Amino acid sequence: MPNFSTQAVHAGEERPKPYGALTTPIVQTSTYTFADTAEILEFMRHKAAGDPHVRDEYGRYSNPTQSAAEIKIAALEGGERAVLFASGMSAITTSLLALLSSGDHLIMVSGVYRRTSEFARSYLPRWGIETTFVPIDDPAALAAAIRPTTRLILTETPTNPYLRVMDLARLVEIAGPHGILTAIDSTFATPINLCPLAHGLDLVIHSATKYLGGHNDLLAGAVVGAGEIMDRILAARGVLGGVSSPHDAYLLLRGLKTLDLRVRRQNETGLRVARFLEGHPAIQRVYYPGLPSHPDHEIARRQMTGFGGVVSFEVAGDLDRTSRFMDRLRLPYIGPTLGGVESIAQQQAIFISLDAEERREAGIADNLVRYALGIEDADDIIADLDQALAGI
Ligand SMILES: Cc1ncc(COP(=O)(O)O)c(C=O)c1O
Repeated sequence: MPNFSTQAVHAGEERPKPYGALTTPIVQTSTYTFADTAEILEFMRHKAAGDPHVRDEYGRYSNPTQSAAEIKIAALEGGERAVLFASGMSAITTSLLALLSSGDHLIMVSGVYRRTSEFARSYLPRWGIETTFVPIDDPAALAAAIRPTTRLILTETPTNPYLRVMDLARLVEIAGPHGILTAIDSTFATPINLCPLAHGLDLVIHSATKYLGGHNDLLAGAVVGAGEIMDRILAARGVLGGVSSPHDAYLLLRGLKTLDLRVRRQNETGLRVARFLEGHPAIQRVYYPGLPSHPDHEIARRQMTGFGGVVSFEVAGDLDRTSRFMDRLRLPYIGPTLGGVESIAQQQAIFISLDAEERREAGIADNLVRYALGIEDADDIIADLDQALAGI
């Protein structure tokens, strides 16, 4: 099996490609035509037999550019199949709707992406699906939350913004004997830093908008897994309609080719920036799983091959002092995403609510900054942080 960077470049890429092109074409079409009735009947026979190489029929079901990206992502995760979506949220909501029915119970780890928990709290109950939230670091609470109707456990690792890391071996140990499906949102880890399927999880989910795309120029989501579960997720995508556009799939294919290079660089910068901040008197606390001070450092060390490109930290001071720091930063953009080549920083409290009580309820400290590192030079990033901290 080729290594990551080889897979990132070559997996899913047909050889030869149409017109002798080096890159996978953007097949910009909504539908696919048939020459005659005989061709339709041939297609129907292949479809009925479950042939995975069945030709394309209509853009909501498949597209060749999208299929190439799916094969590449499946190869990187070491999974049988991937299904691509219009966004990470589309991947998550479609998968939950595909796998759960009225009366089923879902367990989610606290601290998952807030729109994911919002879907569980505000939407799933409308279809009779109940969710229990358990702390990421409490296996006993996880075991105790299991009911005869529990169908799925969804975790996220590392979490946003405190970068908590779940012990996946323990998760599989607890879920396995009950036959409960396990899924992970591995957006922050990427396949370069964590291989959840090798740890025994059933499904890996990504907001491909982040590291997989890597250039802050597309929205996409992906689910990786095997067998009948993936058939159900693919069928649900065809009904719910959250497909990725051929153009976005092309941008994703292009971004994926450099995933290994980008993430390794971001891992290196992440560790340097986290160490710099931890030693700075104007910083109250740093959250980075690569630091021994992080509560999940030992698990991360055992489970991950890199600690990622996001560093969260609290500035010594209140909301306003932290805002002053943010406004003095010259290098990163200010905004709400992560995982691309440009560094982006965010004082999360300001994005959550203008109301202090609501911010407290969301569990986000006023002085917390999430710094999503790009691929700029680490010395320049650190020098910029240093000058910004010096002036507050
Ligand atoms: C961990 C995680 N999962 C899922 C999502 C949702 O992905 P998207 O914005 O592509 O819908 C995000 C977005 O920020 C995220 O951070």
